[in-house]
Amino acid sequence: MNIFITGSTGFLGGEILVNLSKRKEVNKIYCLVRAQSEVDAILRLDKVFSLHGDYYDREKVIPVIGNLVDADLTAQLTDNKELKDINVIIHSAANTSFSGIFDKMVEQTNIDGLKKIVLWAKQLTNFNTFLHIGTATICGKEVKDRLVKEEESPNPNASHVVSYTHSKAQGELIIREHLPENKILIARPSIIMGDSRDITPRSPVILWACATMNQIRLIPANQHAKLDVISVDYASEAIVKLLFAKRNHTVYHISSGPEAATSAYDLSIVFEEHFSDLPRYCFVKNDMLKQMKLLAKNKLPIGSELSKYPDYIKHWKETFGELSNLRILFAGLDPYLEFLNLGQVFDNSKLLADVDIEKPTPAHKYIVKQMAYVEKLDVFEGAMDF
Ligand SMILES: NC(=O)c1ccc[n+]([C@@H]2O[C@H](COP(=O)([O-])OP(=O)(O)OC[C@H]3O[C@@H](n4cnc5c(N)ncnc54)[C@H](OP(=O)(O)O)[C@@H]3O)[C@@H](O)[C@H]2O)c1
Repeated sequence: MNIFITGSTGFLGGEILVNLSKRKEVNKIYCLVRAQSEVDAILRLDKVFSLHGDYYDREKVIPVIGNLVDADLTAQLTDNKELKDINVIIHSAANTSFSGIFDKMVEQTNIDGLKKIVLWAKQLTNFNTFLHIGTATICGKEVKDRLVKEEESPNPNASHVVSYTHSKAQGELIIREHLPENKILIARPSIIMGDSRDITPRSPVILWACATMNQIRLIPANQHAKLDVISVDYASEAIVKLLFAKRNHTVYHISSGPEAATSAYDLSIVFEEHFSDLPRYCFVKNDMLKQMKLLAKNKLPIGSELSKYPDYIKHWKETFGELSNLRILFAGLDPYLEFLNLGQVFDNSKLLADVDIEKPTPAHKYIVKQMAYVEKLDVFEGAMDF
């Protein structure tokens, strides 16, 4: 089997690449990499393998320099003779930013970029599977406090918390428009946070939100809303096994499902135990975030409800210095809190029926192993990245 993968320098894609490189069934893996030169591309892939001391077989794992926003990407790939025998395309690359500033880029990458790969796939002679890494959160924000099934998405009428999920929904529609059902495999992870092994995760992403809430401790969110979170190693194992499994469906949630779902409360217990010198977690109503933002702008009206929490305000001053420093953290947390409050849990029964994989571990159980990493995480640096 010859594979072409996008996004292999990313959080999930990196794990998928390393995992695939160990499979005997796989002959060559061509990786679309953004790079200035061949040397730079090899260095980037080397980093993916060296992070956890994995073997980088340069005969097997080959970079293909390219960018999803290149206007001529389809032609570049078509003209590349090395790629003519690709059987499987794994599309993991995406712009995953939640920030409105990147909306245009999100659309160009996740919709237009994806289309370029799909149009190239259509021309391949020996191509049999387009494995698209989607996201379960494309179900939209009207879906609340319940179990979500794969068949419910993509729903063109869904409204979205961020443009990113909208673009991912559009992406799935494009795949269906251009490729036959028997060549499509869509894996829709829920929320991927950290690694369940005692190692440095490939990216802080969602762990950043947890680490930030850990420092803030006054959380404007429903503590009991169910939260569907899985580790990156579980997600990659499930996706790679799915590729080789005898499948009965086209779309699979890669998720905790109801049995292993967590909640902000469950996670707070773990963080409170580890960081016991910080104030206790206090969950307050969702709209308190507005007041927290006003406080950070030094515009909180006198007598506001937030002033009833002086211990937390004192803690913020001691931890973050100027309260204005909190602006970037509150702005970064905003969409995460909105997702957290939705209470969405994604049905994983199709995955567990078709793939030989253990049931997922709840995030509040495996996340204990990431505490040393959380200690080192610079929340301000993380906030700049999103
Ligand atoms: N993380 C989650 O919680 C989560 C949950 C559900 C679904 N997903 C899906 O999983 C997939 C992987 O996400 P991730 O968390 O691994 O994201 P990530 O860490 O941000 O990685 C994104 C990858 O896409 C590549 N990429 C971005 N723009 C590109 C462009 N214009 N041209 C070529 N490559 C580009 C990046 O390359 P560079 O290294 O060059 O930037 C990187 O390799 C995405 O499709 C995402 O929608 C993620």
